[in-house]
Amino acid sequence: MKVKNICCIGAGYVGGPTMAIIAQKSPEIRVTVVDINEKRIAAWNDPDVEKIPIYEPGLSEVVAEARGRNLFFSTDVDAAIDAADMIFISVNTPTKTYGIGKGMAADLKYIELCARQIARVATSDKIIVEKSTLPVRTAEALKNILDNTGNGVNFQILSNPEFLAEGTAVADLQMPDRVLIGGDLDTEAGKAAVQALVDVYGHWVTADNILTTNVWSSELSKLTANAFLAQRVSSINAMSELCEKTGADVNEVAKAIGMDSRIGPKFLKASVGFGGSCFQKDILNLVYIAKSFGLQEVADYWEQVIIMNDHQKRRFAENIVRTLYNTVSGKKIAMLGWAFKKDTNDTRESAAIYVADYLLNERAEVVVYDPKVTKEQILADLDYLGSRSEAENRELITVVDTAYAATREAHAVAILTEWDAFVALDWDHIYKAMLKPAFLFDGRRLLDKEALQAKGFEFYAIGS
Ligand code: NAD
Ligand code: UGA
Repeated sequence: MKVKNICCIGAGYVGGPTMAIIAQKSPEIRVTVVDINEKRIAAWNDPDVEKIPIYEPGLSEVVAEARGRNLFFSTDVDAAIDAADMIFISVNTPTKTYGIGKGMAADLKYIELCARQIARVATSDKIIVEKSTLPVRTAEALKNILDNTGNGVNFQILSNPEFLAEGTAVADLQMPDRVLIGGDLDTEAGKAAVQALVDVYGHWVTADNILTTNVWSSELSKLTANAFLAQRVSSINAMSELCEKTGADVNEVAKAIGMDSRIGPKFLKASVGFGGSCFQKDILNLVYIAKSFGLQEVADYWEQVIIMNDHQKRRFAENIVRTLYNTVSGKKIAMLGWAFKKDTNDTRESAAIYVADYLLNERAEVVVYDPKVTKEQILADLDYLGSRSEAENRELITVVDTAYAATREAHAVAILTEWDAFVALDWDHIYKAMLKPAFLFDGRRLLDKEALQAKGFEFYAIGS
């Protein structure tokens, strides 16, 4: 079967970029990305392609090429579902905030709503592709809903988890390490559905890089990949604390161990803690699944990755307070960076939010600058935490347009995101405009310690 018409439900950080690349690489396939969020769809359709809702290097060029040709963004979910022969579900699967599994399990309500909508609307056979990250065996629940509430049409369910990282989404999608497709390889219909999706990716991904497995392996591999990646960050962050006590330097340790080909050099950068919408949520989900099977040791093992990460964020903030003579009340602290990593405007679970919250609890005067994150987003992130009233947040925190405005007359600067532009700042100028002694806390190992100390800064970097 040749796929001619794709619908993707969810125009977020995964659905938008993934579908843009599929459309760019497959001009004969019509790709419609739908969402219930009207504002988001309007932004994807903005005539000024620089105003699309997600900032990713290279993405606006891809959208400019395909949009209006074979890539469409719409709020008419029903029409797109009915017209499609393949439907990707790419909606959010956040951690549950209520009921059984609260704070751990994945909230599958958006997934279930999609399944019910597809079942209600579909009048022809469809291949349903799980693009969202889901607990192992979710496909079973989807199939039940689709088969029992549908109009008698046939559904094949595939799992096709996404491995892109934000900030490098376009490159990751264009040259994926692997594409993983899980399907029912025991039946002819299942094999045909898998082949149909293999052929979509075959437009630009070589056969060697497309891996097919059973559905459960595919679903579990996604959670496993994120758990292993986050575990590396927590492992190096654990070492960063030991480095600070012993005079070792975590960058040197990372280099030394990374040269062992069995360990490898990637993902060993010590930091103020990992953020992003997925590492924490997916590990919590894994922990919940392990617990639900009675595997307490497995659950405890992975939970430690999160415990270490929370510790890293807290100890970075505590160190600021301790260093500033145990009080930051009324002191101006400049935070450079709010996004959870560079080259994205995404702030979900960013370490910056937790560091700011800690400092605000200590009544610091926090001034934030991030090149891509809006003031509205920063305030929304703090309001969402709920530590204090919205009015208090607005009173205590200031968001400014330049790093220079943030650091002027500050007692301390803290680097929370590794934006390249922060390296290129005029640090002499910043030093002169700050109160003395001028403290600099580098949560990303971005700056050259010796050079900054030579300028006069009291310099603190994670892991040295
Ligand atoms: P997101 O919140 O940016 O986007 C999800 C979108 O789905 C939202 O715009 C929302 O309005 C829409 N939506 C929800 N329910 C809907 C419905 N019933 N009908 C239509 N639209 C609906 O989320 P995201 O970051 O794109 O993540 C989506 C999934 O992909 C998650 O499961 C996540 O774990 C996974 N994932 C994310 C990343 C990443 O880098 N962000 C990478 C790999 C996998
Ligand atoms: C991560 C995975 O890398 C993707 O493969 C996966 O698809 C995605 O999660 C997902 O499922 O959502 P992402 O969260 O976008 O991607 O970004 P990463 O590059 O993995 O960074 C995550 C966090 O870890 C960031 O805060 C980053 O600063 C931090 N990090 C990363 C470190 O502190 N040190 C490192 O060495 C690497």
